[in-house]
Order: sequence, then C-alpha cells, then structure tokens
Amino acid sequence: MESVSHENRKFAPPAAFAENAHIGSMEAYHALYEKSIKDPEAFWAEAAEDLHWFKKWDTVLDASEAPFYKWFSGARTNVCYNCVDRHLEGPNRNKAAILWEGEPGETRMLTYQDVHREVCKFANGLKQLGIKKGDRVAIYLPMVPELALAVLACARIGAVHTVIFAGFSADSIRDRVNDCGAKCVITADGGWRRGRVLPLKNIVDEALVGAETVTDVVIVKRAHGDPFPCHVKEGRDHWYHRLVQDQPIDCPCEEMEAEDMLFLLYTSGTTGKPKGIIHTTAGYMVYTHQTTKYIFDMKPEDVYWCTADVGWVTGHSYIVYGPMQCAATQIIYEGAPDSPDEGRFWDIIEKYRATIFYTAPTAIRAFMKWGDQWPEKHDLSSLRLLGTVGEPINPEAWMWYHKTIGAEKCPIVDTWWQTETGGHMLTPMPGATPTKPGCATVPFFGIEPAILTDDGEAVEAGILAIKQPWPGMLRGIYGDEQRYKDTYWCKWGGKYYFPGDGARRDEDGYVWILGRVDDVVNVSGHRIGTAELESVFVEHKDVAESAVVGVPHEIKGQGLIAFVTVIKGRSHDDQLLKELVSMIDKSIGKFARPERILFSNDLPKTRSGKIMRRLLRDIAEGKKLGNTSTLADPSVVEHLRRQYEES
Ligand code: WTA
Repeated sequence: MESVSHENRKFAPPAAFAENAHIGSMEAYHALYEKSIKDPEAFWAEAAEDLHWFKKWDTVLDASEAPFYKWFSGARTNVCYNCVDRHLEGPNRNKAAILWEGEPGETRMLTYQDVHREVCKFANGLKQLGIKKGDRVAIYLPMVPELALAVLACARIGAVHTVIFAGFSADSIRDRVNDCGAKCVITADGGWRRGRVLPLKNIVDEALVGAETVTDVVIVKRAHGDPFPCHVKEGRDHWYHRLVQDQPIDCPCEEMEAEDMLFLLYTSGTTGKPKGIIHTTAGYMVYTHQTTKYIFDMKPEDVYWCTADVGWVTGHSYIVYGPMQCAATQIIYEGAPDSPDEGRFWDIIEKYRATIFYTAPTAIRAFMKWGDQWPEKHDLSSLRLLGTVGEPINPEAWMWYHKTIGAEKCPIVDTWWQTETGGHMLTPMPGATPTKPGCATVPFFGIEPAILTDDGEAVEAGILAIKQPWPGMLRGIYGDEQRYKDTYWCKWGGKYYFPGDGARRDEDGYVWILGRVDDVVNVSGHRIGTAELESVFVEHKDVAESAVVGVPHEIKGQGLIAFVTVIKGRSHDDQLLKELVSMIDKSIGKFARPERILFSNDLPKTRSGKIMRRLLRDIAEGKKLGNTSTLADPSVVEHLRRQYEES
C-alpha cells in the first residue's frame, strides 16, 4: 500500500470549543478510551444507562457464537421510544425535532410531541394494513418528514425497515424487495430534485411487477399529481393522509429483544448482488447515541444539519436514530444544493442559525468549484462544528472547508465508518483531537484499529482491521450467513473485522484512510461495486466481457471507467453506447453511470484468464504501466492504452 500524502499541518481545537465540550482534552479522551478497551463491557453498560430499557440486559457482550456477536442479551427496549417518547416528559416535549424545508421553499416544523403523534398514527396505520413485528417494509421516499416518521413508525411496531435511496431504479427496488420479502412499500407520488419532480410512485409501480410479496403500498402526497398522474391501484395502494387520518394518537411501543432486527440496508460489495446489511436493536441504539453525543458534541441548544439522504446509512444513524435519541433539533432539506442557486445550503444555515453541519467531501469540492461568492453572501457565524463523511477528503478541500465555511473557528470531524459499522469508528473528538487535513485521526471509544498485511502482520501502511466487536456492528447479511463470515471475518482467521479499506498510521499514531482495497468504488460517497456494473453490461447481447475500474475524479472523489469488449463481428457504435448507459440507469440508477465507456477487442488477462484491473487503472489514470510480465498477451494492453488516449 502506497501513500502519497505528506500533510503536516495540524489544528488544535479552539480553546472556546474545548472548554465546553463533552470531551475537552486528549487526556480526557485517552482516559475514557483506555477504559473502553480494557473493560468494554463496563464501558458499554455505563453508556447504555443513558437510555430507556423495558428490561435491562443479562450480559453486555456474548461472543459465544462469534462472529455472530450479541450485545445486551436479555434486554428489552425500543429505539423509537428512545428517540421520541423519552423526550415527552421534560422540556424537550415542545422542542423542535425537525425543521424541514422543501426544495421549492415550503417549510414545516415538528416538535417531539408532533413527531410522537404522527409516528403513532403512522404506526397504527401500518398495523391496520396487517404489518406486524418482524415484517419487512421498504421505504422509497424523498427527503420529506414522512421519511423519518416512516422509519420510526416501523421501529415502533418492530417492523424491519429497508430504506431504498430515491435515486435507485425500478429494477433495484424489485431486487431489494424480493431479497427481503417486503410486505409493504412506502413511497410518494413524487419528490423534488433540481426544480423537477421525480415520479417515485410510477417507478415503484414498475418495480412491483414481479414482486409477489408486496401486498400494500402507502403513498405520501408530495407532488400533488403534477406533472404526471399517480395511479392508485385499488386494494393495494393507500394514500398516507387517508390511512393516518382517523388513527388513534397513541400506539404503544413493541418491546423488542436486544437482538431483534431493526433494519436492513442494502449496500454494494464485490459481487454483482448487493448485500442486505442487518442491524439489530440494542447495540445499534447505544452506539449511535454515544457517537452522536461525543462526535457532534451535541448540546440542547444546537441546530444540527446532516445533508445526507436517509437512503444511505449516514441518514439512518445521523439523521434519524442518533440525533433523535439526543433530542436534537435538526434541519432536513429535500432538494439539491444548487437549487434555485449555488447558495442554497448557506441560505439554509443562515436562516435556521445552524450550529453543526455534516456533509460529504464531494459536496465540499463542488462548493469550492462554484466559488466563494456563494458562502460569502451569507452569515455563517452560527456554525461551531463541521463534519465530513463517506469518502476520503483531500487536504485542499479540507482547508477550504476550514477557512471559508468554518472561519477557522470550527473543528472538523472527518468521520470514517461504513454501513456495516453502524456508526463512527475513526474520527477526531471535536474538543480534544488536534486535526490534520484529510485524516480521520483516532478511534472512537471501544474501537481498536490495526493495520495489517494480508498475512496479519502489523505494518505502518496496509489493510485496515478492527480488533474487537463493538455494539453498532452489523449482525449479518440477510439470508446469507456464509457471505457474512466470508466477507468480513475470514481474512485473518476470525480475529479481526475486515472493512475493505487501506490505511496508514503516522508518527502521531493517527490513522489515514487510503481508500478501498477491494473492487468497490466510492463515487460521490456512494458505494458502487464494479461487479454490479459489469454484470449489467454483459447482459447486452453484443457484449462479450467487461471490466470496470475506479479512477480519481476531481469532484466525485472517484469516477468509473468501463472497458467493454464486443462479441466478434458486432459493431460498437454510439447506439450501443446509448443502450449500455440506459441499461445502467434501468438496473441501478443514474448515479452509477460511468464517466467513460471504452470499447476494445480484448482485455489484459493473466495466463489463467484473470482480468488485470490494475493495468486498466493505470491506463485510465494515464500512468506508466505496471508490471505486464504475467500477461497472456502483453500487446493487448499497449493497444488499449493507445486507444484510450486517442478516444
Ligand atoms: C469510505 C458511509 C475516508 C470507506 C458512512 C468506507 C471514508 C466506505 C470515510 C463506506 C472517511 C467513509 N474517509 N473514507 N471519513 N467515510 N469512507 O457504507 O471506503 O456508504 O469503507 O458508509 O466509504 O461507505 P458506506
């Protein structure tokens, strides 16, 4: 593993921030960290005491069936109770939970009491449709308050939600719904994005042809039938507003066992088939609560804004579950950052006096490109803490964020974690850790990172590994125990969790993430398996073979380059190109479109027939070609390179 970063700048947390922070010094961090590693069970038991339990646990960690770890066995709780009901007793009852703004500009505000009422009515509506504990419910919604309400309503009655990002295609919805056997889909007639309405319900209708398990569809009215009609299928489809209209405003929380499933979230791996990552109740709840409290230094008076979509894990952990357990006041915005103009985010920060802002490096790079005139037009002085998530941030973008948005007074938490980890793993403590541009720095409590070779030898730069289990960890892959073991626990004989990222440790002991070491590419913070695209391409009758690689991209972090070989005698022209692009749109979604598709007669292969992606990456990056001595036919790669440069 090679690292090219020589970043030496270091920024101590501002004294004013540290003074009032939950963790205000590295001494305080080290003391708690030591405790969390030496006696994790005591540490996590104490953390769990902050929350409500119908019944306390018998054991904190049960490793008897590792890697199927169990946390807080014997306990009964409900995550929705901890996000909502727990706040109704005291002053938080009438605190704003959600400050929502639609892309066209309408606003809505829901207090914790409002959220309680709406979630209860929604939960009762779902019950009326026959949804029970353990049933799977798919959610395909724009970023409207009903998205958070739907998630919480499922958690309340013990239904397992699987949120599908509203940029996914009908085929992707169908695959997910079928994989988990969802009974119900919650969607909207449409959602706003860059001044246009996406016809979400129509996409769901298409998806449900061939999805036999779905008996009911709930439709939130957002687009008001404009500009396309929303077909309501008698007996299956229900308008949300009618369903909840006369429901009782109370719905008791299901008492969930600690390891009862909370949600499934599909994410890309190294095969063509996305994995349904399983998260369960108690451990995930405790972990998201703790990380939100410490990493966002969440205080009652904060106005928090995470710009992620609830369709990704960041929205699960750091819009719905973490912040709401902390009784946070948060902004939820429906639309694009450049609608109606490139100042929209800064306008929202100024308007609501946001204090904490959490976004993706891709967005930060786009803001940089749009120019300083946009943030300069707005008063951003309310901000006290900034965060990034989803992909590595380059030092230049970090410095811009620090200066232009943070006015050099806001700590930046660069949080490394994954769908699988449930919550932050490596991240600065905002009031304690001196930060370095582009570095995720130190582990969260209870997390013990290691950097290893393939053989498990500790090295300075290599493959990131996590030594012991933590409460927020995934509990499996839906319907595929073996894939769970093989993917995450086999690499070092079950001793470490394997996240799939490369990392380096510097002289201060900080961990730098170097990007994925597998065939997963991070495009604008969205995980895309190259195998997923390849399997789409080869479905085309004229395509023989395909290899997709990730390359650095100025704004998106990484972009996809596809190499496609066409069956002998078939033509590869603009028509084929168009067809392949539309196949990606249809099978995955527009966000997975490659930057370039290059047709070739052959691909570089080893004598045993394995495609050498490393060489394809060299070509796509315009680098000197690496070792070609193991190739069956070295002329192939030279030819490809010339073709690439000429096209
Ligand atoms: C990458 C998103 C560098 C990493 C929360 C990981 C990061 C994958 C960072 C997970 C970061 C996430 N610095 N890389 N701060 N955060 N990644 O499952 O490669 O969508 O494995 O979870 O994103 O993506 P996922």
